[in-house]
Amino acid sequence: MKSKGYFAVILCCMFFLLFCGCGRKQPEVPEKIQVGVACYNQSDIFLGELVSCLKQQFEQLENSGIEITVLVRDAAGSQRTQDDQVRELIDMNCNVLCVNLVDRADPSEIIDLARENDVPIIFFNREPVAEDMMQWEKLYYVGAKAQQSGEMQGELAADAIAENAQADRNRDGKIQYVVLEGEPGHQDAIIRTESAADTLKSKGISLDKLGSGIANWDRAQAQNRMQQLLSQYPNQIELVLANNDAMVLGAIDAYEKLNYSEAALPVFFGIDGTEAGLEAVIDGKVEATIYNDKEGQARAIGNLAVAAVTGTGMDQLAFENEKYIYLPYQKVTEENVREFLY
Ligand code: GAL
Ligand code: CA
Repeated sequence: MKSKGYFAVILCCMFFLLFCGCGRKQPEVPEKIQVGVACYNQSDIFLGELVSCLKQQFEQLENSGIEITVLVRDAAGSQRTQDDQVRELIDMNCNVLCVNLVDRADPSEIIDLARENDVPIIFFNREPVAEDMMQWEKLYYVGAKAQQSGEMQGELAADAIAENAQADRNRDGKIQYVVLEGEPGHQDAIIRTESAADTLKSKGISLDKLGSGIANWDRAQAQNRMQQLLSQYPNQIELVLANNDAMVLGAIDAYEKLNYSEAALPVFFGIDGTEAGLEAVIDGKVEATIYNDKEGQARAIGNLAVAAVTGTGMDQLAFENEKYIYLPYQKVTEENVREFLY
């Protein structure tokens, strides 16, 4: 009788444990990773190259045995379009989003949609402001530090000027320069411009800023702006600092169109190390550029996407402030440019 009683108690306990176990829902780990990539504008040269790296990265992860599908959408410069595309990507069952915001100051609609559906977001290349990043715990950012690229550009320009007495062509002891700037409000535009000039000054170079033009990262717009600057300051410009390679190439297009002789050219500096930018360093048209590590960024986004969906591997990632992954820039000159050609 006694043993029967014990048996009944043990049985009850087992049932209890079983029911409790069922009631405590285990988080489901989806077998398949469905990634939605939303881009601000794929006609942007660097961005286009970054997105192809990202696709390759997801293919590699797939070859390593993880089942992944990737859907890419291009907002062609409209935040409205991007909000709709994100809604569509979530409706198509994406379980992680990689978002390259059109307007980095306006991510609220996308964050709300993602939070309602519990889909983590990895923002990339266009950094949301810190308050927006705090809106939800499943928001991340992968990119690079604008300040570092500006400082490196300033250092390379200072070296080039120090090494070449001809750089100060009118020999007034100052460097007359112009800046071609990216989109207003973009973290990489304002900060690159300021930190490049500050670094040059801190290296003892006297600067004389003749002017600047906003060309929104775009080669054709930069050519236009440069032609305007050249009509205002013919033969006076000794240095061109561009916030990216596409714009430095546009500036060179302007000089070529106006048939400037080689001796009358300023020294040109870009940022990104796009295919065309690296070619221009090899050809000696651009003095130097700064490599914006698209392969490293794509790798970080890929690994983070897998970790965010599966819940494993987060501790392997090099976060700053728990949410940010920044890849370092690198200086590219004619000495090392070939290392960057893949
Ligand atoms: C920058 C890059 C630019 C442009 C921009 C787009 O990091 O240097 O060339 O692609 O991102 O957001
Ligand atoms: Ca001068």
